[in-house]
Amino acid sequence: TPEKEPLKPGDILVYAQGGQEGVPIKPEALKVGDPMVLAYPMDPKTKVIKSGEAKNTVLLARYAPEALDPEVAQHAVEGIVAYSAVCTHLGCIISQWVADKGAGLCPCHGGVYDFAHGAKIIAGPPPRPVPQLPLKVEDGVLVAAGEFLGPVGVQASREGACRLV
Ligand code: FES
Repeated sequence: TPEKEPLKPGDILVYAQGGQEGVPIKPEALKVGDPMVLAYPMDPKTKVIKSGEAKNTVLLARYAPEALDPEVAQHAVEGIVAYSAVCTHLGCIISQWVADKGAGLCPCHGGVYDFAHGAKIIAGPPPRPVPQLPLKVEDGVLVAAGEFLGPVGVQASREGACRLV
């Protein structure tokens, strides 16, 4: 079904929850220090919202531009960063905000990701950061400027796979 199609470059990011579901997200709606926002990609032509696949869930947060690592800032717009919201531990959605750390929390086992620094793990069991999604602004709304910059979700570790052979 079209709702399960993977995110593609050029998709418009729309609110996934919070009473504005399906509305394209304007950069000025996101403020530094505000909690992160969960989003889904929307096909710009068909307007289908690709909410049928959990791996399409994106999180957005805004930081002061100077707070971002340079390699994170490359793919940000106006201090706004986007990442996959699928926890790399066991695949829950990173859905809560830790305001004093400016970080996202996975409620399943307490994984905490610092999005200003490449989604570095600062607490809990996730084995690796979630991949960033490059952003751009088109017609006043946030749009995916590329694919996720790495694998989304839980990955079998190569080492573990070798040991099974
Ligand atoms: Fe996210 Fe376990 S699934 S910390």
